[in-house]
Amino acid sequence: MKRRTFLLGAAGLAVGGWALKPKAQGASYSPYFAELNNALKADGPYKPSMLLDLDRLDLNIDAITSAITAPKNFRIVAKSVPSAELIKYVMERAQTNRVMVFHQPFINLLARETPNVDMLLGKPLPVQSARQFYLEHRRNPLNNQGVRWLSNQLSRSLGMDLPEGFQADKQLQWLVDTPERLGEYLALAQELGETLQINIEIDVGLHRGGITELETLDIMLRTIAANPEQLRFSGFMGYDPHVVKVPSVIASQEQLHQAALGKYEEMIEHAKAQFPTLWRDDLTLNAAGSPTYRLYDDITLVNDLSVGSALMKPTDFDIPTLDAHIPALFIVTPVLKASEGVQIPGSDKVGKLLSWWDPNQKQTFFIYGGYWKAKPENPPGLQVNSVYGRSTNQEMLNGSAEVDITVGDHVFLRPTQSEHVMLQFGDLLTSRGGKLLGRWPVFNEAA
Ligand SMILES: Cc1ncc(COP(=O)(O)O)c(C=O)c1O
Repeated sequence: MKRRTFLLGAAGLAVGGWALKPKAQGASYSPYFAELNNALKADGPYKPSMLLDLDRLDLNIDAITSAITAPKNFRIVAKSVPSAELIKYVMERAQTNRVMVFHQPFINLLARETPNVDMLLGKPLPVQSARQFYLEHRRNPLNNQGVRWLSNQLSRSLGMDLPEGFQADKQLQWLVDTPERLGEYLALAQELGETLQINIEIDVGLHRGGITELETLDIMLRTIAANPEQLRFSGFMGYDPHVVKVPSVIASQEQLHQAALGKYEEMIEHAKAQFPTLWRDDLTLNAAGSPTYRLYDDITLVNDLSVGSALMKPTDFDIPTLDAHIPALFIVTPVLKASEGVQIPGSDKVGKLLSWWDPNQKQTFFIYGGYWKAKPENPPGLQVNSVYGRSTNQEMLNGSAEVDITVGDHVFLRPTQSEHVMLQFGDLLTSRGGKLLGRWPVFNEAA
C-alpha cells in the first residue's frame, strides 16, 4: 500500500471514530422532578422507595375509562398494581369492581379488603391453590355459612341490606385451560360442597396455553352442563399481547388482531349454538391487556378488557398504543457520594480515558441501592457504568458536568415494569401536586 493511501485511510478512520464520540446529555432536574426532590429532602424516607404520582395516575385512569365504555368494562390487572389501597383507589375513580388476580394469597386478601370485588383469575392455578383459597376464606367468621344465614335472616326482619361479604360462588371466576384441570376443579367443588365459576382460557395466538379446538370446548362445556351444582360457566379469557409485540415483518398487527378475534368469535358462536342453556348475557368475555386494549375501541365481541401496567406506564409500555398515558411511577433514591471524573479500580488510566471519551462520564454518583429493573430518568443524562459494573448495594451512575446534583439529592428512575418491581421497596409513597401525601402498603409476595 502506498504511504499516501495509508495516511488518508488512517485520517478517515480517526474522523469516523470521532463522529462516534457520545454527545453530552446531562442537565439539571426538570421543574417537576426538582419539586419532588425538594419534597423528598424535606420529608422523604431517605431510602430507595417507589413513588406514585396520583395526579398522573388519575390522568391514566381517565384515559382508560374514556376509551372503555359501556357495554364494555374495565378490569384492573392486580399484579401490575399490587397494593390493596391502590386497587381500591382505581376501583373508586374508574367506578369498576372488576379485578384480574394471579396469586392465591392476594385473592384471599382482596376478598377480605374489598368484599364487593369481582375477581377473574388471569392464569389457571393448581387445584391445591384453589382449595387453599376456600380453606382460608372459611376461616374468616363472616364467611361462615351459619353467620351468613343469620345475617340474611336479620336483614330480612329488619328490612335493610346488611353487607353480605365476598361470595365466591358469584364473585370469583377460576380460569381453566384443559379438560383435565376442569376435572380436578369439579372434584374440589364436590369435596367442599361449593359451586365454582369457570372461565375458559382460549389461545388466541399467544400460545401460552388455553384451548384452541372446538372439540375441547365441547368436552369442557359438557362437563359443566352435567354438574350444575358444582360448576357454572362464566365466560372466556383470551389474552393477546403478541398482536403488538410480534415484529411486523412476521405478521402485521391487523392480521394478528383479526386472527385473535376470529378464534374468539369461533368459540363464542360454538358455545351459543351448542350449549344455549349455559349462555347468558352477563358472561365475562375478557380480552386484552395494556398494550392492546385500545385496539378494542370499535369492537363489541368482548365485554371485559384488562388493563394494569398502563396505569403506571413503566418504560416497557412506551409504545404507540399507549400514547395517551404518562409515566406515574418512579423509583426515588438518595445520592450517597458525588465526585469528579470516573475511577476504575486498578487503573487510573481507564477512568481518565472514559471521562475523556464520554462527556456523560465527567461525574460519578453512588446511589443508595441499584440494579433494579429500571432506567435513570431525572436529572437527565445519568447512565450506569458497564466497565465499573452493577451493584444492588451502591450503584455507580455517571453524568455530564451539567448534572448539578450532590449528596442528599435524589435520583429518579423509571421501572421497566410495575409487576414485581413495585414489591421491592416496602410501602408505596404517594404524591400530588409535587407534595408527598401518604404511604400505601404493597402486597407481600412471599405471603
Ligand atoms: C391474562 C392477562 N391479561 C392481561 C394482562 C395485562 O396486564 P397489563 O395491563 O399489566 O399489561 C396480563 C399480563 O400479564 C395477563 O397475563
